[in-house]
Amino acid sequence: MEKKGVPLISLGIGDPDLPPPRVVTESLEDALREPTSNNYSSSAGESYFRKAVADWYERRFDVKLDSETDVCALIGSKEGLANIGRVLLNEGDKTLLPDPGYPVYAQGSTILSDGEPAVFPLTEEAAFQPDFSKIPVDAKSKLLFLNYPNNPTGAVPREDTLQTAVTFCRKHNLVLCYDNAYSEVCFDSYRPPSALQVDSSAECTVEINSCSKMFNMTGYRVGFAVGNKKVIAGLKKVKAQIDSGIPKFIQKAAANALNQYFDSDLSTELRKNNEILKERLVVLASELRRVGLNATVPRATFYLWVNVGMDGGAFVRRMLELGVVGTPGGAFGSNGINYVRFSVTQPTNLIVEAAHRLAKLKITSCGKLTDN
Ligand SMILES: Cc1ncc(COP(=O)(O)O)c(C=O)c1O
Repeated sequence: MEKKGVPLISLGIGDPDLPPPRVVTESLEDALREPTSNNYSSSAGESYFRKAVADWYERRFDVKLDSETDVCALIGSKEGLANIGRVLLNEGDKTLLPDPGYPVYAQGSTILSDGEPAVFPLTEEAAFQPDFSKIPVDAKSKLLFLNYPNNPTGAVPREDTLQTAVTFCRKHNLVLCYDNAYSEVCFDSYRPPSALQVDSSAECTVEINSCSKMFNMTGYRVGFAVGNKKVIAGLKKVKAQIDSGIPKFIQKAAANALNQYFDSDLSTELRKNNEILKERLVVLASELRRVGLNATVPRATFYLWVNVGMDGGAFVRRMLELGVVGTPGGAFGSNGINYVRFSVTQPTNLIVEAAHRLAKLKITSCGKLTDN
């Protein structure tokens, strides 16, 4: 479309347009000048980085971690989610994963480890929470993936979801891999929990998080896995044979940001970023409602997950003609087929312009897509 001269606004990929906080860029410049900044780092993470993660977990979630045994650095959470399959799966083992869900659970983690993905649905009627009685667990199942705040649905965990997940995993001898990559993209007074806050969770749980969405550092590639000592040890073992660590200067910048997270300068900057995202979600949702779609602003994440009442791919093609890119929900699994995901990670004026372009659409009372 761009080649045809249509200027596009992308509400597709969730990659923040907002810059990383000042502390990140300033520490990066300093860290680059340190004498060993060019050398290999440890694939498990430098000790100052693991300590910063452990301290952050204690202050943010009241979860105590031993930075030596309970924390592993990741080259972004995607790397950890993929490598967890290498840690835990033998050929034919099963992973249990949500549909819709982040595609790496099924592909990068399970299929590339010769495992078999077994999905369970997240439905709008159930507020996108799993029905644990319907999860297809059997003797081959090794790993359960859960993700809240959720991509693509924007759902946050219900009060009992994490407790039930931990009980379920302990009962069936599964590892719970809890993807908390959006824990800090949240609005008003809502603060997403950690699965490690649940009693006895450390016996079965590894939690994955990242500086990508927390500090707008997607391209820096820095994340962390925390929790169960045995899984963390396995992850370090796998990684030691695959990667040679996150560049030290990036670990320094990320560690400084985690260490200053609760200081007023940084927390104010991050709160303002979240206010900007919420405002964009509100603008876009109200425009989508005007064209007849049921769009609700989530309590966390920068996504709107909208049932368009027809094939999401066809809807996205129509959007493309109007110069707006969205993600067809089917990309996240078969339960997403009638949905479109809108990401508000573009400057606010472009979100307003995209909303304006989409106003040309009209969904009739019988659910047909026409032009306004
Ligand atoms: C649910 C979820 N988990 C993990 C990731 C990976 O993020 P990163 O590897 O940048 O930490 C993403 C990226 O969009 C995501 O949506």
